[in-house]
Amino acid sequence: MKQKSVYLCSDCGYESPKWFGKCPSCGAWNTMSEFKIQPESAARGTNSFPRGASRPVPLSEIESGDEARFHSGIGELDRVLGGGAVHGSFVLVGGEPGIGKSTLLLQMCQEMCRNAKVLYVSGEESLRQIKLRAARLQISSPELYILSETDMEQIIQETEQMEPDILIVDSIQTVYKRDLTAAPGGTTQIKECAMSLMQYAKNKNVTIFIVGHVNKEGTLAGPKILEHMVDCVLYFEGETTGPFRCLRAAKNRYGSTNEIGVFEMSDHGLLEVNNPSAAMLAGHPQGASGNCIACVMEGSRPLLAEVQALAAKTQFGVPRRTAAGVDYNRMVLLLAILEKRCGFFLSSSDVYVNVVGGMRLDEPAVDLPMVLAIASSFRDKPLPEGVMGFGEIGLTGELRAVSGAAQRINEAYRLGFHTCIMPMQDIDETLTKKMNIVRVRTAADAIRAVL
Ligand code: TYD
Ligand code: MG
Repeated sequence: MKQKSVYLCSDCGYESPKWFGKCPSCGAWNTMSEFKIQPESAARGTNSFPRGASRPVPLSEIESGDEARFHSGIGELDRVLGGGAVHGSFVLVGGEPGIGKSTLLLQMCQEMCRNAKVLYVSGEESLRQIKLRAARLQISSPELYILSETDMEQIIQETEQMEPDILIVDSIQTVYKRDLTAAPGGTTQIKECAMSLMQYAKNKNVTIFIVGHVNKEGTLAGPKILEHMVDCVLYFEGETTGPFRCLRAAKNRYGSTNEIGVFEMSDHGLLEVNNPSAAMLAGHPQGASGNCIACVMEGSRPLLAEVQALAAKTQFGVPRRTAAGVDYNRMVLLLAILEKRCGFFLSSSDVYVNVVGGMRLDEPAVDLPMVLAIASSFRDKPLPEGVMGFGEIGLTGELRAVSGAAQRINEAYRLGFHTCIMPMQDIDETLTKKMNIVRVRTAADAIRAVL
């Protein structure tokens, strides 16, 4: 039979029978490359999930039973998974190289192998390297099995023989199938290998964790292909140079996607951070201009973090703006609001915004603290001690209500703050006894209240 070729975009995984200079899906140039497909695997196609004898079934007749879960012994990880890893689920753990994915998964094994048979397959490290890492992490369970292998067929064969309850594949970029001519790490290989693992997981009800490295743009190599296939997508993020790491669920078929887990990288591996607000505020400078404490809701938990800003006179040409930990476009929008609605002439200032501790704050409630930090730096006047705030800012400069006000205020009170600047919204009156609550209508009013 004639060998078939497909062209795949290395950025987005778009597949086409003919070549394009520009990918029709993501618009990237020169990313389409040719892959030869063996006749057999071409005939199977890429969506060959075994379906069995399928026919429509009334919803009421489908047996579900309670979801049984494996607990990892790491509270922060279990919470992000929705209370542990569901039996037979397929979990993708993504993150930049060096962020701590292998460390987290190896640490997870320690507890999991008490109740389950665990096989950890590494395509990146030798058995000796894993042993050394395990020793450093003080993992000594005799029930944990390690395989250093990159050949997919070999991995499946060994797995079939051992029949583990939990299989970890670190990483999907290093494993390959021999019958494909494509190089390991490419979209075709990733797709096919993940598909084989998924078939295995669903047929044998095995829980599988796969590690996927994320490239600089923050997407998994061959991204979309894997995300729709798996049950959970967890992203491990943070600054590799800083101690804090944050685990987020981008997708979860068995739980909420709002929860985050906070970890600290130490000499003995990842430690759970049970009181993230206190950790984020450690080292908060007293009496310095250009910072404001924000309170954001991360899932069910409020989290305090310090937003820092620096507004400095532009020396030459176009003013520079950089944002770390907050959305760049949101920052630019708030600068325009500050200029237009609050009378701050920032068009000849460079503005840098940063969230201390390497956290990403994506919630709109961070608008107000960001504006206060920028205003404070611009005027070179610190905010009074013990002040924090939250609130979304609209285009007319009005402050808009946010959810979870009471939880945010309680968290700030717990950490010793005495004043909270917030939007005009109803709150439980008992809170006003704990803290000085300043409710304001606009961003300009908020600035007037504290600066
Ligand atoms: P690793 O889990 O190998 O990252 P990934 O699998 O995501 O590529 O973690 C790598 C970093 O973590 C590495 O730079 C060293 C650091 N580290 C510690 O600081 N303490 C430890 O106990 C371990 C095991 C790693
Ligand atoms: Mg690794």
